[in-house]
Amino acid sequence: MKVTGMLVRNKIKRNHRFGTHGNASYLCTMQILDGKKAAQAIKDDLKIDVAQMVIEGKKAPHLVAILVGNNGASETYVASKVKACEEVGFKSTLIRFEETVYKIRLLEEIEKLNNDPDVDGILVQLPLPKHISNEDVINAIHPDKDVDGFHPVNAGKMMQGLPAFVPATPFGIMLLLKHYKIETNGKHAVVIGRSNIVGRPVSILLSSNSNPGNCTVTICHSHTQNLKEICFEADIIVAALGKPETVTADMVKDGAVVIDVGITRVPDATKKSGFRLKGDVHYEMVAPKCSWITPVPGGVGPMTIAALLKNTFYSCTTKN
Ligand code: GUN
Repeated sequence: MKVTGMLVRNKIKRNHRFGTHGNASYLCTMQILDGKKAAQAIKDDLKIDVAQMVIEGKKAPHLVAILVGNNGASETYVASKVKACEEVGFKSTLIRFEETVYKIRLLEEIEKLNNDPDVDGILVQLPLPKHISNEDVINAIHPDKDVDGFHPVNAGKMMQGLPAFVPATPFGIMLLLKHYKIETNGKHAVVIGRSNIVGRPVSILLSSNSNPGNCTVTICHSHTQNLKEICFEADIIVAALGKPETVTADMVKDGAVVIDVGITRVPDATKKSGFRLKGDVHYEMVAPKCSWITPVPGGVGPMTIAALLKNTFYSCTTKN
């Protein structure tokens, strides 16, 4: 195909951006942190490892997911986790409970799974109905089977840099940075969000003495007064606040690495599902300023699942 000068220029415009630094002008290239691709590489490796285990007569890793009620997003997440298990040769079991289930019934089931030697990982999909305390349920899972890394024993070990199950989304983010060899050493990372699932653990991992890691980390949250100014200082932004398109171009400095953890369903009548997914970052505005950025979907989401599989594999191979 004959490529005209105009076409070439348009192509360059899409992926490149001219900027200035002091007196020098430079060409900055925006690249995608493709979570789908990186997750596939992890799953391919796991598939080989599991096949080898089975050849050696060992049992395949077994993940049990518990789903309470029928929250649409949770249904989708759990289905993706079960499918990913099948892809790599893990055994998976989905246990469903009605929205109205008593907490005691849930705890009984968890206790049974804790004592079942065939089960390597137990995952209770959050959020739970209001009448059930997340904390009570998380604390009931044996720390050795807590592949979500939410149990205080695992959270404490992770904070001390000891071997532990690391929550899947923060772990997935670290694996993504590693896959794309993103330089984090000495960089200023700004984490927006302080949840136990993402914000807090990812801030610990990014600041830990490791590669990726060794960042100077600032944690921002709903009470942060000058979010825009703080974000503008960041070399790396992790947006995990759960509010769509909060991070706008004026908050991001040229060449920043932007990790978008948000995945909110917003109504969209043009879609068959009736919704589309939006990240916490205004992608169209922000992407041209970045050196690297995660898309939504296809960024952090697939990495979360890959990380969960790695945790389950680790549980199985360190126990048996
Ligand atoms: N809800 C949102 N993220 C997660 C997760 O990583 N694990 C579980 N169990 N529930 C979630």
